[in-house]
Amino acid sequence: EKGQSLKGKHFIVTSGGTREPIDPVRYISNASSGKQGTAIAQSLLNRGAKVSFIYGASDVPPPAGVDAIAIGSAQDMYDAVHRALPADGAIFCAAVADWRPKQAGAEKIKKKHDGTTPSIEMVLNPDILKSVAELDQTKRPALVVGFAAETENLVEHARAKRQRKGCDWLLANDVSPETGTFGGDQNKITFFASDQPEDWPKMSKSGVAEKLADAISKHFGDA
Ligand code: PMT
Repeated sequence: EKGQSLKGKHFIVTSGGTREPIDPVRYISNASSGKQGTAIAQSLLNRGAKVSFIYGASDVPPPAGVDAIAIGSAQDMYDAVHRALPADGAIFCAAVADWRPKQAGAEKIKKKHDGTTPSIEMVLNPDILKSVAELDQTKRPALVVGFAAETENLVEHARAKRQRKGCDWLLANDVSPETGTFGGDQNKITFFASDQPEDWPKMSKSGVAEKLADAISKHFGDA
């Protein structure tokens, strides 16, 4: 029965966009709406799972029934994810900023009146997905699922990303502006459970979530 197939299982789901402060009133972020991550959390809940939903900036509220943890920056998301462990599975749908401004000013950066502009030095953020995929067997969730947001050479880039990050499954989506993947209601996934890509048809984000939750239920032996 769908309603109970993941009962007793704990999942971490990341969703939305991170915000990397420049100063107290400015940040660097991205166009993630949180719709895909929210739909995945809902589909896992529908199967009886307990869900720790760790989310950044989003256009939609977290689903009722999750343990909802709101975060700001990538470092906040990293800390929240590691605090939410242990888990049976972890799904990394958030659009995490790869870099952050090296120094977030304590005061608002003043506009100069001589025509000069500030330059922002960036440093690398921790890779949350990779840090979880690399945990030793006693701490690593049994199933670690990543996403790949690509604008070109999707299959090659996604295959390499799955290897590099050490995740079990990877859902690659084309996020070129004309696709409307960021922020829209539909998604087109190329799914990797191995090096072999499996093309899913274009469908609603809740359709993608259901298909993923079905595969997860099957993986845990209860479908
Ligand atoms: O939110 P929506 O508007 O519904 O759009 C959904 C989506 C396009 C944001 C989503 O489907 C998606 O592709 N999410 C991943 C976005 C992303 O950051 O992709 P990436 O290729 O840069 O990262 C690869 C993976 O590593 C992702 O699972 C990401 O969550 C994770 N990551 C990346 C960087 C980082 N520092 N830590 C991470 O955990």
